[in-house]
Amino acid sequence: MTRVKTYFISLDVIDSTNTWVKEHHDSLDPKSMTCVSAEGQLQGRGRGKKSWSSPVGKNLYVSLYTTRKAPYLHLPHLAQVLSFSCAQVLLKEGIPIQLKWPNDLMIREKKCGGVLVEVISSQESLGLVLGLGLNVNMEEEELKGIEIPATSLKIETGKVWDKQKLLEKITERFIADLQLLDMQGFAAFLPHYEKMLIHRNGDPFRGGKYRGLSGEGGVLIELTSGKIITLFNADEGRTDLESP
Ligand code: BTN
Repeated sequence: MTRVKTYFISLDVIDSTNTWVKEHHDSLDPKSMTCVSAEGQLQGRGRGKKSWSSPVGKNLYVSLYTTRKAPYLHLPHLAQVLSFSCAQVLLKEGIPIQLKWPNDLMIREKKCGGVLVEVISSQESLGLVLGLGLNVNMEEEELKGIEIPATSLKIETGKVWDKQKLLEKITERFIADLQLLDMQGFAAFLPHYEKMLIHRNGDPFRGGKYRGLSGEGGVLIELTSGKIITLFNADEGRTDLESP
């Protein structure tokens, strides 16, 4: 593994770490990995234009920044790989973590983290902004505003976690996984990633049945007609879906 220089920038309360990186990337080293974290976010963003609950001092709100030459073939898999890296670290800590396709971090069927990848495009290079939100020490009371079943490491394990230590471990693991992705593509992750998924063959999945993963990490869905379709992006509209 090649050694990658890593910088940690810790900020107080800002709007969003992803937004901060997009505004400041010119001053960040493109060759290294920069890990920007905030104590709180006033406008934390999730996938699908949702907001991300970001109470001060409780959780990890992080954006990892690095660059790759364009075109970068593995772009569609970055979010899956980051959620996988994070899940591997949490598994090692004894947390029964699973992934909900493509990149939600789940404990006992409740969401405790997610990934939002954004790209800064210029002619030759792509700035990769890899946002990770992980509910670490959030209390039950603070989860009430979240509209889906959600949890935190503290609620699930009954102990307070050191956010910085977790962040360092996740960053280190992700740097190694990113190198593997660069060299071998998502195929190297597929069986390990699939094992982490919460979905089982035949489970109801978006109006059809879950039938596993395609070689590219898309999800195979069997429609009621028996037709199998592949979904690559969780936010994609399903134009071919039959009425339930
Ligand atoms: C999701 O919807 O599952 C993705 C959530 C991603 C949230 C993180 S928190 C750090 C970074 N900054 C943001 O505004 N969003 C991401």
